[in-house]
Amino acid sequence: MRAEDDFTRRAGALLRAAANDLKRDDENAERELGLERGSFAEFAAGTRPVTWELMRRAAEVWPLNERDLLPGHDDCPAGVRITRHKESVASGRVLSRGGEPYYEYRDTAMSRIASYRPEWIRMLRVVEDDDPDNPLVQWNRGHLLYQFTYFIGPVNYYYRWNGVSHCVPMDTGDSVWGLPFAPHSFTSRSATEPACILALTYGGSLLGDAQRELAVLGNATTRALAVPLEGAAHRPGAMIRSFMDAGAVTVAELADRTGLTRERAEELAGGAVPPGPEELDLLADALGVSVRDLLAPRTGAADGVSVQFARDARSWVWPDEGAPAYRMTRLAGDPLHPHTSALRVDVLADGAERSAPLTTYQHQYLYVLGAEPVTLSWEFGGRCVEETLAPGDSAYVRPQVPVTFAAAEEGRRAQILLLRISGSVTPEVRYAVGTMAAGGVDRYVAEDRLWYS
Ligand SMILES: [Fe+2]
Repeated sequence: MRAEDDFTRRAGALLRAAANDLKRDDENAERELGLERGSFAEFAAGTRPVTWELMRRAAEVWPLNERDLLPGHDDCPAGVRITRHKESVASGRVLSRGGEPYYEYRDTAMSRIASYRPEWIRMLRVVEDDDPDNPLVQWNRGHLLYQFTYFIGPVNYYYRWNGVSHCVPMDTGDSVWGLPFAPHSFTSRSATEPACILALTYGGSLLGDAQRELAVLGNATTRALAVPLEGAAHRPGAMIRSFMDAGAVTVAELADRTGLTRERAEELAGGAVPPGPEELDLLADALGVSVRDLLAPRTGAADGVSVQFARDARSWVWPDEGAPAYRMTRLAGDPLHPHTSALRVDVLADGAERSAPLTTYQHQYLYVLGAEPVTLSWEFGGRCVEETLAPGDSAYVRPQVPVTFAAAEEGRRAQILLLRISGSVTPEVRYAVGTMAAGGVDRYVAEDRLWYS
């Protein structure tokens, strides 16, 4: 199917799904949207493209947003989307800070399917110390996106948290993961050696629908909904309190349902003390939720960042010692984002047949580090494809697409950076899809009919 036809079909499916949600049959939909008789079925089936005017009209007369009717673009129909080094070079632009050239940016592989914004960045500012207050350092104001950074060469990394500035001298193989809106900067410690970073920014679940919803709800509501992770003892309390609010449960009622004393129920709901394992079970039962719903994530970030130096990074072979295809090295990450994983892959296998496919549920970004080319092969839609990637080439890989790396020539040990992130398909969504009635999955991804017949 042509990409354009596929887009039209998915737009039609969204229109049908919206009409179903609002309990409109074709005739009602046509009347309310001012469409000619018999045309709604054509729009919904994708044989007639949904127009901007139709979306505008639907958003006017129905309680929905234009965005609800807009499908995503599929710019990766082959399963993998490659950006060649020379395309990256062609996208290069120098950005000035304080009126002087500060960074050279180059785009690397991106896709509309995933919220990655991966940039190769060269530091143009050279410093001679590790002083975070060096006036040569130009700080940004921080940005919404989370940032995973991989360092190549003598790069100084600066970050500021709660008004305190830090500088960490980095070298090739070091990496860092950072929280949104923390000001940061990078400089080079050498006028001759290349000093670059791969700055892989991504929004995760903060972007998209959540951001739009909160932008409408406003500041005060967003602040009220925010759950701080500071103060470990308070962690489960926030969720217990939320579920009590949701179910209009009083402390007395919680005590009654759990069999705990009123004082203990009060303590747990207040977050002054964390519940013990048995109490968690009792609370989950009483509130009609799963234990996991009461638990807060943990974070290893100190002052907004999690640093991983190459010298103490864990490394192991995959899939096993007997026939190792890759040496894996774990790069920076944080438990706050359990579905983000960063790896450096040293390719050990000489041919695809001696290598092993890697598959994950995440969106994948890869960048060829070092000086050696690599053969990338993958399977998608019943087709097997093989491409040689040169140093500086990068690619986006769709979830669940098995990719295999092998030396492009015997003995040439390529090195690849892999950053894997989950998109909007959170565990909640995966469980929800997994519990649909028979036939539900096909209809969820492309509803094409009335909900009754
Ligand atoms: Fe950044």
